[in-house]
Amino acid sequence: MKIAVIPGDGIGREVMPEGLRVLEAASRRFGFELQLTHIDWASCDWYVKHGQMMPDDWKAQLEGMDAIYFGAAGWPATVPDHVSLWGSLLKFRREFDQYVNLRPVRLFDGVPCPLAGRRPGDIDYLVVRENTEGEYTNLGGVMYAGTEREIVVQETVMSRFGADRVLRHAFELARSRPRKHLTVATKSNGIAISMPWWDSRADAVARDYPDVTVDKQHIDILSARFVLEPGRFDVVVASNLFGDILSDLGPATTGTIGLAPSGNLNPDRKFPSLFEPVHGSAPDIYGRNIANPVAMIWSGALMLDFLGQRAAHDAIVEAIEQVLVNGPRTRDLGGNASTTEMGEAIAAKLG
Ligand code: NAI
Ligand code: MG
Repeated sequence: MKIAVIPGDGIGREVMPEGLRVLEAASRRFGFELQLTHIDWASCDWYVKHGQMMPDDWKAQLEGMDAIYFGAAGWPATVPDHVSLWGSLLKFRREFDQYVNLRPVRLFDGVPCPLAGRRPGDIDYLVVRENTEGEYTNLGGVMYAGTEREIVVQETVMSRFGADRVLRHAFELARSRPRKHLTVATKSNGIAISMPWWDSRADAVARDYPDVTVDKQHIDILSARFVLEPGRFDVVVASNLFGDILSDLGPATTGTIGLAPSGNLNPDRKFPSLFEPVHGSAPDIYGRNIANPVAMIWSGALMLDFLGQRAAHDAIVEAIEQVLVNGPRTRDLGGNASTTEMGEAIAAKLG
């Protein structure tokens, strides 16, 4: 497997070595080969030296990779966040057509839950977000700016091609899980053109998945149920904006952001997919070796699963489960272990 390793900025550089430590332990145990290419661009330090986040030929350098293992980008003290993000991560997502943003949401044993009375097993679902179109477009504009007649328009764009492929991916995921249940996030009562259309595409795709049960929920009550009745969910599919919000809300209900992983997937494998923690570069804790490495490590497990190493994925998740119960734990989990100690403990469980 050819993997581009991009630590990026801040704690991305502290959690990446632990992610690699665990990937290497998994490669020894399961006998697959990792060819790592270490990359120092897509970082604000590189920007300060070169005036841009990435070299002009970034796409050519990454195109032949099977996946990109990414830490975090952003260092607002030197580069504004919209410049660092649009100059790196958002280029990967769009130009590599990573049309599925996948975020598992799971409450682990040993992690205090912010929702009262919830126990491990009560929260265990996947959020599938459309990642390339929908509400996030640059179509629109302002007219009569600065006058009483000022008007602003921002378009939402949904295509049959774009909706069907992400819906199909979500149905496939639901089919692969024991409960085989898909929730479609909608808002067809308020957004009266595009959302009824989105629902109709879900109905059309559902015909190919008679074994998957489906329910549609308006995004407002769906959000409330993430908090009040998380046990209702198995796989949730949503447009770009709704999915963005749900995929932060979900992980927030399971404890620390230091655990939440994500995959930006090009399921056709025409381009490399990208695996990264949900969290950013955390300038407030960088340099102290106290960041939680689990989100990075779990993202690596998602990467192996995507590349066909299901057993290695399961073993890494199991090792994470054991360390969350028995320690060592980083500070965000109430312990006082370092990033390195927690990474070493997880790698050691893989033997
Ligand atoms: P952040 O996720 O970096 O930090 C938010 C809070 O969570 C901070 O208090 C931080 O200390 C804590 N935290 C984050 N990860 C942690 C971990 N692994 N262990 C323990 N505590 C952790 O979000 P923030 O502060 O909004 O953004 C900081 C920078 O990161 C900005 O430049 C932002 O643009 C960038 N960013 C990049 C992302 C990416 O590369 N995908 C995602 C989110 C933010
Ligand atoms: Mg977000």
